[in-house]
Amino acid sequence: MRACLRDKRLGRNFRHVGTEAEFKAEPLDPRRRAFWDVERWSLLFIEPPEHTRIRKLVAAAFTPRAVEAMREPADQLANELLDDCLARGRFDLLYDFAQPYSITLICRLLGVPTDRHRDLLDWSHRHVKMYEFDTSEEQAESATRAAGEFRDYVLGLIEERRSSPRDDMVSALVAARVDGGRLADDEIVSTVVVLLNAGHEATVNTLGNGVRALLQHPGQWQRLVSGEVTVANAVEELIRWDPPLQLFERWVLEDGVEVGGTPIPRGEVVSMLFGSANRDPRVFADPDRLDVARENAADHIGFGGGIHVCIGAPLARIELEASFRALVKRAQGLALIEEPVRVPAFVIRGFEAVEVAVV
Ligand code: HEM
Repeated sequence: MRACLRDKRLGRNFRHVGTEAEFKAEPLDPRRRAFWDVERWSLLFIEPPEHTRIRKLVAAAFTPRAVEAMREPADQLANELLDDCLARGRFDLLYDFAQPYSITLICRLLGVPTDRHRDLLDWSHRHVKMYEFDTSEEQAESATRAAGEFRDYVLGLIEERRSSPRDDMVSALVAARVDGGRLADDEIVSTVVVLLNAGHEATVNTLGNGVRALLQHPGQWQRLVSGEVTVANAVEELIRWDPPLQLFERWVLEDGVEVGGTPIPRGEVVSMLFGSANRDPRVFADPDRLDVARENAADHIGFGGGIHVCIGAPLARIELEASFRALVKRAQGLALIEEPVRVPAFVIRGFEAVEVAVV
């Protein structure tokens, strides 16, 4: 799988090298225009040279220093949110903790106001339904409306930052010069939307999947409570054991590609199951066992690889460590109130809610 992720003959898109007919792909549905307009310049939808140009700009904002500066706010916010949750006694770890936590931190890094964070979450949840296999007409329609509203919101933000720039990423994207030109508003909209969406969906589900995994394996939870195992190592094992993103696809852009000895012609799609790779017995001993002390847990594929490798991985690690540290320290008696129900989706794996209480 790592070889596929690094192979330049495989791409997330094919439209820069061939037609929809050649690649036997459905044309993009014109009724979903608002959705595809927002996807058009998303890092996840483009390939070099477009990808290289925009990724470079985004990387300039995700410097190790900028991300490291999020450590303290992450710690502080985790504890503040937990204060409220613990005061309430019973809470939904996703709605009451993980969602406001993760959206606030990515907004802070990008310089997006948080007053509309419930709208941002709603737009994002509806938007990402389009990445699933069996998106219904109703979901596609809802995703399209969400994309339109999200776009209008970001366009407003661009206007504001253009007239009064601040020291934030939206202002930096507005002012950026690449190859002598500025980014078009459409490019900025896609970039901000993909960062906001990718910047919380997977982190929130890692928290939900991870807490449920630990509470189902009380011995593993105790190893964290006692300090025998570091939270940092546990985070890697939790991403390995129940990753929030299960499937990524690549188009075969050239002839001559072989995967595991099987030739795959140009125009085909390679589907990569991350959850399966993370349980590969050739890499992980006794792979179905949750072991927070696993030595090579960080060898998981959870953040991908190659040119599309997760640009937010260092931020995600900081956020996850800060939240698990706060939970382990302050909610040692955490317990599930009921078995959480899975969201009926394939690509993005998470729960509808994770109802917990300290007992
Ligand atoms: C546990 C949390 C996270 C996981 C498991 C995760 C996983 C991934 C994976 C697997 C990819 C590669 C997709 C592919 O190869 O097709 C990716 C890409 C990406 N991630 Fe994350 N991610 C997480 C958190 C974040 C955060 C916090 C951000 C914040 C900015 C972020 C932003 C992105 C972006 C912008 C891309 C696209 C990069 C590109 O195409 O060049 N992710 N992520």
